[in-house]
Amino acid sequence: MDALEILCEASRRIYENVRDLAGTELAAGDFGRGAGGDISRNIDIVAEKTVLDYLKETGFECTVLGEECGRVELSENPRGYVIMDAIDGSANAVRGVPFFCSSLAFAEGERLSSVTAGVITDLSGGQSYHAASGGGAFYEGKKISVHDKKPVYRIVGVNTSGAGMELVKRLQPILENNHARHFGANALEMAMFARGLVDVLVDIRGKIRIQDIAAGYLIAREAGGLLLDEHMNPLDADLSYETRISFVAAANRTVLDEVVSGII
Ligand code: IPD
Ligand code: CA
Repeated sequence: MDALEILCEASRRIYENVRDLAGTELAAGDFGRGAGGDISRNIDIVAEKTVLDYLKETGFECTVLGEECGRVELSENPRGYVIMDAIDGSANAVRGVPFFCSSLAFAEGERLSSVTAGVITDLSGGQSYHAASGGGAFYEGKKISVHDKKPVYRIVGVNTSGAGMELVKRLQPILENNHARHFGANALEMAMFARGLVDVLVDIRGKIRIQDIAAGYLIAREAGGLLLDEHMNPLDADLSYETRISFVAAANRTVLDEVVSGII
């Protein structure tokens, strides 16, 4: 089995194991702070354990970089890194808001740009997005691409979670001039962007972790999306627990300029 097949099966198993847990009191159980810095909830732990058990079962030789469990060496000769956000959108998952996903990526090296496989599964319905480097991006097995046309409604995902006054002021023209949206699960928002449902994504809070973005990065790139950092350079970063990312994703240069020029 190659890395992509392993990630697809691991994601399917997460869906099976958490589908009845989301929105229940049990989902919220507090396990203290995880490696990513947030409180690990029971639903996060159940989902991560599903992946770790499966990777051990298949003997996949890798190092896991999990949002809750941290770095777990599963082999002395790892083929690369499995970057795991087993539940992205944990607050939604715990409350039962049907917008959360799993995000699993495989990287051969230690940079975001060395991600070669990514899978995002919408855990409210089980639908899956995947990509392998150079092979295009897919939703439920069908090839997808970003919305590279003039949109009827320009939909812009703006991450406003935890934003202070200064950031809100900076984002104000984007909020005023577009159909701005914020759903609460970065990876699933990137997948929707890759599928052409959203034209631009803006997250300039400097809070996104490697685990939140690794799979979405590849899926959005393989779908033809433009992925840039806060200096408008091609997005890249170290696969480190200290890394925090700001990014902009756009279907093309035209829509990027229309939305962010003068702001970023
Ligand atoms: C969070 C989500 C959310 C973003 C946060 C992330 P988590 O991931 O992606 O949309 O605003 O910055 O931490 O904690 O639910 O895995
Ligand atoms: Ca998470």
